[in-house]
Amino acid sequence: MRKALAAVAGLGVAALVLAGCSGSPGDGGSKGGSDDASQVEVFTWWASGSEKTGLDALVKVFGEQFPKTKFVNAAVAGGAGSNAKNALASRLKADNPPDSFQAHAGAELTDYIEANKIEDLSSFYKDNGLNDVFPKTLLDRLTVDGKIYSVPSNIHRANVVWVNNAVLTKAGIDPKTAPADIDAWLADMKKLKDAGVETPLSVATDWTQVQLFENVLLADLGADGYTGLWDGKTKFDDAKVTKAIKDYTSLLSYANTDGTGQDWPVATDMVIDGTAAYNVMGDWALAEFDAKNKTYGTDYTTWPTPGTDGTFDFLADSFTLPVGAPHAGGAKNWLKTISSADGQKAFNLAKGSIPARTDAVATDYPEYQQGAMASFAKDTVVSSLAHGAAVKVSWLNDITSAIGQFVSTKDGKALQDALVQAQTKGLGK
Ligand code: GAL
Repeated sequence: MRKALAAVAGLGVAALVLAGCSGSPGDGGSKGGSDDASQVEVFTWWASGSEKTGLDALVKVFGEQFPKTKFVNAAVAGGAGSNAKNALASRLKADNPPDSFQAHAGAELTDYIEANKIEDLSSFYKDNGLNDVFPKTLLDRLTVDGKIYSVPSNIHRANVVWVNNAVLTKAGIDPKTAPADIDAWLADMKKLKDAGVETPLSVATDWTQVQLFENVLLADLGADGYTGLWDGKTKFDDAKVTKAIKDYTSLLSYANTDGTGQDWPVATDMVIDGTAAYNVMGDWALAEFDAKNKTYGTDYTTWPTPGTDGTFDFLADSFTLPVGAPHAGGAKNWLKTISSADGQKAFNLAKGSIPARTDAVATDYPEYQQGAMASFAKDTVVSSLAHGAAVKVSWLNDITSAIGQFVSTKDGKALQDALVQAQTKGLGK
C-alpha cells in the first residue's frame, strides 16, 4: 500500500511530502530491519557545546555496555532540531533512515507513525521491563493506539526563567523572589530598564520566541486552558489568548531585537555574562551555566515562569527504531543503553534534564534537578508546544511562522487570526 502523507520537516519550514511508504509499523518494513549490531548510526541535534557533552556522556556508557557496536554520530547542528528535522525528513523520504533518531515524546511522533516510518517498540518495552520504570504521565504521552514507538532518554522542563543574580541585585530586585505573575514581572523589567539594563529579557531564534509565547499562554490561560488549546476545548479566539498576545508584546518590548537567526546558547549566554537579566529557556540551559562554571544560587537563580508555578511544562527526548534501519540490532543496543539506569544517570547529569526512570535517586543530582524532579512528581504536567509534545509538526510550523511574522510586525490581531486558522487546520477541521 502506498500512501502520500504531508509530514512536516522542521520549524518554520514548508511541509515536505513523505511519499511511497511501504510496509506497516511493526512488520520490519519492506527492506532492512536486520539485526546487524556491528554499528549504530544515531541522528540527533546535539552537535556542539553543552548538548554534545550530554551526548558524549551517553556514548561513553554505550561503549561500556556494548563494546562491539560502533557508535556513528549523525548529529545535525541547530537547537530544537531546527535543521535536523528537515534533514531527517529528506533521509526518510529517500528510504535512507539512520538506525535511530531523536524525536520528542508526544504529538511530534504521530507524523512519523502515520507515515509508517518508525517501528512499534511495545515488545521491546515488555522484554526490557520498561513499562515498570517510566512514570504513567510519560507512558501516556508515548502511547499511540496502545503502542509505543520510542524510548525516552530524559525529561526537560520548558517553563523556566534563568536569572542573573548580580544584575537584579544591582537594580534593587531580589533575585530569589519570583514575581507572582506576568504583570509583576513586567514591572521588574521596567525597573531594570530604568536602572540602565538595556536587555532585561533575552531571546534567540524563532523556536525560542515560540517557547516564550507558550510560557505566556500557560501563565494567562492556566494549565487546563492551555492544554485545551491542543484538543480544541480552548479556542484561539478566547479573550485570554488576546491578553496573552498583549503580555507577549510587552515582554518583547524588553527583549533584544537581534535574536532571530541566533541559536539558544546566544540568548542564555547573555544572562550568563550579565548582558541580560532573564532568559526563558528549557533546562538544557543548566548545562550551559555549568559549562561556563557558574554556580547555581550564587551567580544565577531559576524560577518557574511567573504565573506558571505549580505546572511542569514537559518535553522528553525520545529515540526511535526507523522502519528499514540498516543496523536494527545496533539500534536496539542503543535503546537499551539510553533506557538503562546508568545511561540515564550519565546523560541527565550532563544535560540538565531529569531521568525518565522513576527509580533514579534524587540525591545523585544537583539542587536544580532535585527541584525539577520534585516538581514533575507533584505539579500539573502539561505538554510543550515548541518541543513537539503538544502538537504535530505541521501545526507547530504554522504557529512558528505566525510568531515569526508577529515578531517583526507586532500585529496582534493578525497573530490571533493566524493562530485560529492553525488550530482549525491542526485539528483537521
Ligand atoms: C529540545 C531538545 C533538548 C535540547 C533543546 C535545544 O527540543 O528536546 O534536548 O536539545 O531542544 O536544542
